[in-house]
Amino acid sequence: MPRWSQAMFGTPEGPWNLTRRIEAKLGPRLKVDAVIEVNPPRAEEALKIKRESFVKDAYKDTVILPSVGEFRKRVDEGKAKEPRAILVATPPIVRGGLQEHNNLEVQLNKLFPNAAIFLEKPVATGTPFEQSVGEAIKVGQLLEKEHKPPVSVGYVLRYLKAVQEMKKIIKENNLTVMATNARFVVAYELAIKTEWWNKDIMQGPVIEQATHICDLARYFGGDIDIDTVCAHALEAHEKPGVLSKKNFDESVIPDDLRIPRATSASWYYESGAVGTMLHAIALHGVDYAIELEVYADGYQLILADPFGTPALHVRRPGSDQIEVHPTPGDDPYQTEMNHFIDHIEGGPEPELLSTYEDAARTYELTWAIRNSSEEWTRRTLAKKGKSA
Ligand SMILES: NC(=O)c1ccc[n+]([C@@H]2O[C@H](COP(=O)([O-])OP(=O)(O)OC[C@H]3O[C@@H](n4cnc5c(N)ncnc54)[C@H](O)[C@@H]3O)[C@@H](O)[C@H]2O)c1
Repeated sequence: MPRWSQAMFGTPEGPWNLTRRIEAKLGPRLKVDAVIEVNPPRAEEALKIKRESFVKDAYKDTVILPSVGEFRKRVDEGKAKEPRAILVATPPIVRGGLQEHNNLEVQLNKLFPNAAIFLEKPVATGTPFEQSVGEAIKVGQLLEKEHKPPVSVGYVLRYLKAVQEMKKIIKENNLTVMATNARFVVAYELAIKTEWWNKDIMQGPVIEQATHICDLARYFGGDIDIDTVCAHALEAHEKPGVLSKKNFDESVIPDDLRIPRATSASWYYESGAVGTMLHAIALHGVDYAIELEVYADGYQLILADPFGTPALHVRRPGSDQIEVHPTPGDDPYQTEMNHFIDHIEGGPEPELLSTYEDAARTYELTWAIRNSSEEWTRRTLAKKGKSA
C-alpha cells in the first residue's frame, strides 16, 4: 500500500485526478504520509477537502514537506514508514533531468530504492532540447537498470478498453500497421493558466499535451525515424490564429513566445509505415475533439473521443460497413492506477503499458515536431523579409 503520494490536485480543466483513483483502488488501506509541495497553502487547501470527505483516514497523518529529502529524514527518524509507492505529478520542468533542479527521479532512486514510482506525462520539459531529451533518455536507462520496483508513466490513453481492443485486432489478425493519423483539437476556453500559453515555460502544446496522441501513435506504429519528422505550425501572429474566447490575458506573453494555434506533422516509422498528427487550439466549450486512425491491410481502426465517451470504429475485410463499439464509462485513469497497484501487489491486472524509456522517446518526438515547425516558421517569415 502506498504510504506516501505526491498528490496532484489539478485545475478545473479535466477528468484527471490521481488521488481519487488510488483512493478507489486501495480503499481504507491507503495511507498518505506526505505531500511534497512547494506551495504549501495549495496542499493544505486540498488536504482540508480530503479530511472532510469519506477518505479522511488516508490523510489523517499527512504532512506537507518541501522536498523528498525531508521525507527521507522523517522515515530515518522513524516518524514515517518506508513508502511503497510514490506518485509524481509535479510540472515536468522540475523533473526528468540530471541537473540539481530537475533530477527528481535520480533522487527518488537513491532515497527510496524500494518504492514503486508513478509519474505523470510528459517525463520532462526543458531546454536546450538536445540536453533535455538526452537526459530524459538517460534517466530512463538509469531507472531501468537501477530501480528494482516498477516505474510507470501516465500515458493514460494506452489503458483505454478501445485501445486494447485495437491492439487485440492487430495481434489476432497478424496485421502490420501501414499508417496512423492522429488528431488532438483542444477546447481552449477553460485553459486559463498563462504558463500553458507561453512556450518558454511549458514548451508548447505539442510537448505538453499532444504528447498523449503522439505517444498513442507510437504505441501502434512503433519507433519513429526521428530525422524524418517534418511539421508546420499556424503561429499566433497569423490571421487564422486569432482566438476570440480566451479567458486569460495573452498580452503579457511576448509575441515570439505565444504558442502555435495549429501544428501539423508527419513522419516515417522505423518499419516504413507513415504517421501524421494535427494539434489545434480551435474549439470553444469544454470537450476536446480527439481521434486516432490506424490503417492496416483491409482494416481501418478508429479510436474516437478518448477523453470523453471513448469508442472504437472498425472496418474489416468482407464489408464496407463500419462497426461502432462504444465503451461508455471507461475510465483509463482508474485502469492505469489499478495496473500500477496490481503490479506492486501481484494483483490480477499487473501489466504496465508505458515505461520511462518509452515515454522519453515520445518526448523526443514532440520536440522534433516543435523544432521542425519552428524551422518552417523561420523560413516562411524570412521569405517575407521578417524574423520570428
Ligand atoms: N494524464 C493526464 O491526462 C494529465 C492531465 C493534466 C495534467 N497532467 C500532468 O500532470 C502534471 C501536473 O500538471 P498540473 O497541471 O497539475 O500542474 P501544476 O502546475 O498545477 O503543478 C502541480 C503541483 O506541483 C507543485 N510543484 C511545482 N513545482 C514543485 C516542486 N519542485 N516540488 C514539489 N511540488 C511542486 C505545484 O505547486 C502544484 O501544486 C504534468 O506533468 C501534466 O502534464 C496529466
